[in-house]
Amino acid sequence: MNKIGILGVGSYLPEKKVTNFDLAKILDTSDEWIRARTGIKERRFASPDQAASDLAANAAERAIKDAGISQEDIDLIIVGTNSPDTLYPATACLVQDKIGAKNAAAFDLQAGCTGWVYASIVGAQFIKTGMYKHVLVIGVEAITKMVDEKDRDTYVLFGDGAGATILGNVDKGGLLSSVLCADGSLAEHLILPAGGSRLPLSQEVLDKRLQYTRMNGREVFKFAVREITKVSLNAIKEAGLTVDDIRWFIPHQANLRIIEAGIKRIRIPKERVAITIDKYGNSSAATVPIALDEIYKADKIKTGDKLLMVSFGAGMTSGAFIVEWSK
Ligand code: COA
Repeated sequence: MNKIGILGVGSYLPEKKVTNFDLAKILDTSDEWIRARTGIKERRFASPDQAASDLAANAAERAIKDAGISQEDIDLIIVGTNSPDTLYPATACLVQDKIGAKNAAAFDLQAGCTGWVYASIVGAQFIKTGMYKHVLVIGVEAITKMVDEKDRDTYVLFGDGAGATILGNVDKGGLLSSVLCADGSLAEHLILPAGGSRLPLSQEVLDKRLQYTRMNGREVFKFAVREITKVSLNAIKEAGLTVDDIRWFIPHQANLRIIEAGIKRIRIPKERVAITIDKYGNSSAATVPIALDEIYKADKIKTGDKLLMVSFGAGMTSGAFIVEWSK
């Protein structure tokens, strides 16, 4: 049977750190409020000349090196992002050019913060069918450019970064289960209203600041806790495992309180949970691969460990998959 695993991992965080204290200078907020309500202490901001493809290319180079393959070996690039360089062409095509993966097909996948989880499962199908051998899957955001610095409800939450993995065939372990969900009836709760075909950019749009993210925080919070629990338990069941078999739970980093409420319901002890939100905030589709890379680089993952990766976000979408580590 054709087993699909993670052959390489890499991530990239922009250098600029923005602390809660920095934000309290420009917004009616405080370090105390942000920490208590979200768990965030600081986040990274892309520089004015850095777009999503720049961050993504850095993470991709690192993942390719880690996998021990070359750029030419990449058959497909899928980029999960909510902050593409431009609406078109796809950021994946820009990454393809930047890293010199000249044999790769490339496309973007829009699934809110669940983008990298969706992209991983989509990428795995190409390997499963035998169509491709190596798929580069990237979660990337320069999303701080798409939140309103005048809106304290959203501006304090987000950060920028990129995480990448190389998927390919493995002899043992690999992908054990995958779950994808969507509920478009909840779309309005997390939305960037303007700049698409529904509401093209105009002076009126700019005056109303509709070119920035709008969020109904309480509704998103409720959805997040419900979904993180549901898709995690479904992925564990589909893999024929129990919660105790999961060595690492790597959840989307949107709010520490969401993670804590989720792990309480799923019954995963906190020492088995990867947490990066304090340092990087919510880098949307990039949080899970960044957190994966962090525990991997810290030598915390052993061959045979079972990793549960889970996310939720705009759409609204949610998804999870379990991988038995085979590196
Ligand atoms: N600083 C200080 N006060 C703030 C604030 C900020 N940055 N943002 C909101 N507040 C205020 C509100 O105005 C409100 O004031 P009021 O009581 O006078 O009306 C108060 O804090 C409480 O607001 P509330 O929205 O009830 O807080 P909360 O506990 O729900 O936390 C979020 C707000 C946004 C942190 C939380 O709802 C959340 O994390 N939601 C999910 C967001 C998310 O995950 N988004 C990404 C999904 S991928």
